[in-house]
Amino acid sequence: MKTIAIVNQKGGVGKTTTTVNLGAALVKRGYKVLLVDFDPQANATTHLGYAELSCKKEDVDNDYIYYEDHLSINGVLDDLLKHRDYVETLHKSVLHHEEGIDLIPCNIELAALEYPIQSSVASERKLEKLLNEFENDYDYCLIDCQPSLNVLPLNAMTAANLLLIPVATQGLAVKGLTDLLITATGVKAELNSELEVLGILFTFAEAHTNQTKDAIAGVSAAYKNDLPIFNSVIPKAVIGGETAMTGHSLFYKHGSCPLAQRYMELADEVIDSTKGDK
Ligand SMILES: Nc1ncnc2c1ncn2[C@@H]1O[C@H](COP(=O)(O)OP(=O)(O)OP(=O)(O)O)[C@@H](O)[C@H]1O
Ligand SMILES: [Mg+2]
Repeated sequence: MKTIAIVNQKGGVGKTTTTVNLGAALVKRGYKVLLVDFDPQANATTHLGYAELSCKKEDVDNDYIYYEDHLSINGVLDDLLKHRDYVETLHKSVLHHEEGIDLIPCNIELAALEYPIQSSVASERKLEKLLNEFENDYDYCLIDCQPSLNVLPLNAMTAANLLLIPVATQGLAVKGLTDLLITATGVKAELNSELEVLGILFTFAEAHTNQTKDAIAGVSAAYKNDLPIFNSVIPKAVIGGETAMTGHSLFYKHGSCPLAQRYMELADEVIDSTKGDK
């Protein structure tokens, strides 16, 4: 299994949209894919149509449905932290979406686990421990990270073989990348010596605008000798935002739109770069 963390501490750069649509594209290409929602915002969970699972228990009184038997990555992490048996719960937590993608959902209560994780022994290795259980079950595992560089993304980077870094082609695109890459270098040195950057993915591109051209030129000038940059550039497109509310990826009903096509090209690049790997 190749585990790819979709990371950038900058918010709203297309991490979740990329996780869901890259995952769906890899399924279309015949691969077995597990998505892990590792952001307390639970946007990937919502995107794939499980909005009710992202609600807190208290929301029952406000007319949300709450599933008593609902399992989540945070529930399993809680078991792990409390030294309870977590393996069966972990496997039961996997949702099987009708598009063929599997998902371990999460909810806002993941945020409450940040401190307990941080204070635990081997704090950065909790997610790695859970995902090891799926090593022989999937070809790809994609982890949707929260926009920060705290203990949760650190866990994702420690569990991952590869980092996919979406960069919005808007002002100051280069700036946050430096901090992210310093953190990734630290993770590689201290925790995960095999960690590599799979690629930088330009998102929210608007053809012919100076903002997009400048951002791509700036990032390319700074990093193209050191880091792979995907040829596929993700355009800004209304359908991208609209699909997030439908419970499906772009490929469910809009597989031929340009945005879906760019995600399919991205999937082909990912497959190509990871060829021969387990
Ligand atoms: N290519 C696109 N064109 C237009 N809108 C998009 C595109 N990709 C994503 N969006 C929308 O932009 C917003 C931010 O995207 P997304 O949630 O994927 O970013 P994110 O990096 O996961 O954000 P966060 O850091 O908050 O987790 C969402 O409302 C999403 O639906
Ligand atoms: Mg997100």
